[in-house]
Amino acid sequence: MTRRTALAGALAATFPARNADEEEPGLREYAARAGLLYGAAAAWPVLRDDESYARAFAQECSILVPENVLKMGPVQPEPGAFRFEPADFMAEFCRRHDMRMRGHTLLWHQQAWPWLKTIADAQEARKRLEEHILTVAGRYRGSMHSWDVVNEAVHVPDGRQDGLRKTPFLELLGSDYVELAFRIAHDADPQAKLTYNDYGLDYDTPGQESKRQAVLRLLRHLKEREVPIHAFGMQAHLDWAEFRHFNPETLQRFFREIAELGLEIYITELDVSDRDLPDEIAQRDEAIAKVYHTYLTAALAERAVKAVLTWGLTDRYTWLATRRQRPSGTPVRVLPLDRDYRRKPAWQAIRDAFRTAPARDG
Ligand code: XIL
Repeated sequence: MTRRTALAGALAATFPARNADEEEPGLREYAARAGLLYGAAAAWPVLRDDESYARAFAQECSILVPENVLKMGPVQPEPGAFRFEPADFMAEFCRRHDMRMRGHTLLWHQQAWPWLKTIADAQEARKRLEEHILTVAGRYRGSMHSWDVVNEAVHVPDGRQDGLRKTPFLELLGSDYVELAFRIAHDADPQAKLTYNDYGLDYDTPGQESKRQAVLRLLRHLKEREVPIHAFGMQAHLDWAEFRHFNPETLQRFFREIAELGLEIYITELDVSDRDLPDEIAQRDEAIAKVYHTYLTAALAERAVKAVLTWGLTDRYTWLATRRQRPSGTPVRVLPLDRDYRRKPAWQAIRDAFRTAPARDG
């Protein structure tokens, strides 16, 4: 039995109901043919409670990332009290469906510990960070494809020479906190690809160019100091209206510089806001699909790009529904599947970009 037949069999056993789309393989299959992983961010408790959602993940994805449940606050809501049930469920789901899993994220200034303010000094901060990373990354040791160790640490407008964002972690621990987090994560899980993840790097604008330079400086600094970092995560939260500022060469130049540092690249949170498009559905879907296709075609030209994840899989559950609400109030259409789990032009666009991507080794 081939791997694909085995998978189809496993799917049929778990999810007897089938839809017509299943005649065509899932994105995971097209990704695999190009030596890529494809996946999406999964919401809790939706993955447990909505069977159609779970089935869509199993069909389409070879990698899954929890959208929220592994962030600092959700996973350690009180000092020393961890909540692993949602992420454990997702890890088990991945095992059952032959999928990899990414961890997101060990250190971020948002959705951080709600009790962060009670930390008195550097010594306590260091102890808490160690306990957090060793406990969380340690729990999934050996089974995570990769971990977003540090998320969004660069923010040029904060005015620092090193480009680092002014956060409580920076204030408590100093600028070495990034390096510290990676070293602890490597002790906790020596197999996971340790990733620095950030946003706002997609367009050919002066602001994004200076952020790209700051990110490159940070990555170079970490490599020079022999910090265990293995990958860069490009969030890629795109917007149809802003996409006029996209220049494939600028993206490719940025990716090349990262690849030359010996790092892999993952597109970690891809989605495309349709806020400024007219309501008419066919036109809107085409415009969004075009953005997916253009962006991925440019990104996948770089062979260091090894995985593509969208930030959600279906328009039924996406943070853009509230984050980038449409002025008319009509539901957003921003992800590969519609609200009823039907494949949209965005799905075909991703498939086509995978089909034409230069093949890479695993
Ligand atoms: C978002 C989630 O999608 C929302 O559900 C949550 O309310 C806020 O965070 N960059 C990141 C992700 O790294 O963790 C964010 O996820 C989106 C922006």
